Amino acid sequence: MTTVFLNGQFMPIAEAKVPVMDRGFLFGDGAYELIPVYSRRPFRLAEHLRRLQHTLDGIRLANPHAEAEWMRLIGEIVARNDGDDQSVYLQVTRGADTKRNHAFPAQVVPTVFIMTEPLVTPPPAQREQGIAAISAPDMRWLRCDLKTISLLANCLLRQQAVDAGCVETLLFRDGFLTEGAASNIFVVRDGVLLAPPKDHLMLPGITYDVVLELAAAHGLPAEVRPVAEAEARGADELWMTSSTKEVLPIVRLDGQPVGRDENAGRPGPVGRRMYDWYQAFKQTVMRAGE
Ligand code: PDD
Repeated sequence: MTTVFLNGQFMPIAEAKVPVMDRGFLFGDGAYELIPVYSRRPFRLAEHLRRLQHTLDGIRLANPHAEAEWMRLIGEIVARNDGDDQSVYLQVTRGADTKRNHAFPAQVVPTVFIMTEPLVTPPPAQREQGIAAISAPDMRWLRCDLKTISLLANCLLRQQAVDAGCVETLLFRDGFLTEGAASNIFVVRDGVLLAPPKDHLMLPGITYDVVLELAAAHGLPAEVRPVAEAEARGADELWMTSSTKEVLPIVRLDGQPVGRDENAGRPGPVGRRMYDWYQAFKQTVMRAGE
């Protein structure tokens, strides 16, 4: 059975219980991270822990563990569970109070939960065919840079895609692309990679950073700047990126094929190259034992 970590102890998942007064349960008051693990090695762990710190600072919650302790706990969760490739989920909430009160309790004892699941990346057929997406107005709050567990808007937006037989929902705010319901979105136009800038309107994706680093390393021109809705709709290529989806081509948006001429409605060459660079990079990092 899956072993999880809850508040200082490792235990079978069926035994892990949190009080109903936990503010994570009552208010969605907490932070989370999802870290891919390849060959039992967490990928970009320091960066994920840095983003966790950014979220905790943003929600005024003291980090319950030092970086080295997080690394130790995550290492142990990975070791205690089956599978070389895993997806580690960690969550910190503001803990349980004695009564329901929006304002923070005086004594904050955060709840810390870590679990791991098998890492499921897109199957080759899906990568080769690409996926369909819809679009929707970005109706979330103005701190989308924080990875909080208050994900109702993201869940509603992702479900909209699923209801339409699609995989992701692209979000537009005030005429500009922000991101996907649970991914970052890249646009390719005339051989140039376009990415919305990291600001309060999108999650600073760890995969997003890797993609931009790989573009720079391989000489692919890239521009980080606001991307107008019309530019996204008229893209040669669209990709979604995340720790679990990696780099996945979007070939239909709102029922229209993405791209032009012989590439219309099919994954494009730049995305294919980026996917290969990403896989090669993962291999290098794993071999180096980073
Ligand atoms: N989500 N934007 C949003 C809103 C996300 O939820 C995610 C990831 C990303 C991509 O971030 P990264 O490259 O660091 O995975 C962007 C995770 C996978 C999740 O919620 O399960």
